[in-house]
Amino acid sequence: MSNQTYYKDGYDSTISNSHAWRTAENSCGYMLSYLKPTDRILDVGCGPGTITYDLAKYIPHGEIIGIEPTRELIEEAINNKSLDHEVQRGNVKFQEASAFQLPFQDETFDIVHAHQVIIHLSEPLKALKEMRRVLKKGGHLCFRDSEIRSALIYPEEYEDPISYYFEKIKSEFTSTIAASRAKHLTIKAGFIPENIINTTSTWCISNKNDRLWFSELYLKRLTKIKFQPDDKYDQVQLETAWKQWANDDYSWFVMLHGEIVAKKELES
Ligand SMILES: C[S@@+](CC[C@H](N)C(=O)[O-])C[C@H]1O[C@@H](n2cnc3c(N)ncnc32)[C@H](O)[C@@H]1O
Repeated sequence: MSNQTYYKDGYDSTISNSHAWRTAENSCGYMLSYLKPTDRILDVGCGPGTITYDLAKYIPHGEIIGIEPTRELIEEAINNKSLDHEVQRGNVKFQEASAFQLPFQDETFDIVHAHQVIIHLSEPLKALKEMRRVLKKGGHLCFRDSEIRSALIYPEEYEDPISYYFEKIKSEFTSTIAASRAKHLTIKAGFIPENIINTTSTWCISNKNDRLWFSELYLKRLTKIKFQPDDKYDQVQLETAWKQWANDDYSWFVMLHGEIVAKKELES
């Protein structure tokens, strides 16, 4: 099994660019209170690295390593030109590696983090066990994943084409129940239920600026979708649906995300 099944047709900057708006504040709020200034953090599947750079602000005397199995993404993260130079922090490193085989010794990190990564993996449990292995005793595993089946799209006329769009961009292993199953997988990975805090948060895309921005992210990816003759909608129909949805003041899009903070027990 390949380490990288998310970029199924190879690295594509239109995909990684659609993740580059993410920051520690808008994607990691559930875990920020666990960070200590001296922490060593591993950011698994760091993508374009915007969250990684941001998390570094919270650990001025620690360090964070972002890993990705895709060389191009490591380079993109290192050279992330969309970031203010001030936030190009000295305590951030990037390294090529897979969640399935982390090149670190047991009990190396205070925090092992993954944002919207476990959801896409072919073997999520294998990755979580590996993430637990490199976590120090008393350290925290933190991850957040969308529940794709929770998408609410309104008005109803856009529900089917926009849901179909998300079905088309989904990779082979992307789970539609990643938030629901997160605690179950965490327990199977070895964490005890009493040490797991499970929360949720939602995206609510409703005002016009947010709708235009959100649809733009996905319209850019539309040109890369491979359509087949028997597809229910073609590229033009999906483009029209996104644009009409974005310009309709009655529209909204909501999606739930599941968040896990699991403390590794002090004695095992
Ligand atoms: C949806 S993106 C999330 C990127 C980033 N964490 C963020 O939220 O902006 C999923 C990431 O997981 C990475 N990925 C896929 N397979 C992986 C593996 N085996 N180990 C580590 N990362 C992997 C992909 O390359 C991709 O960058």
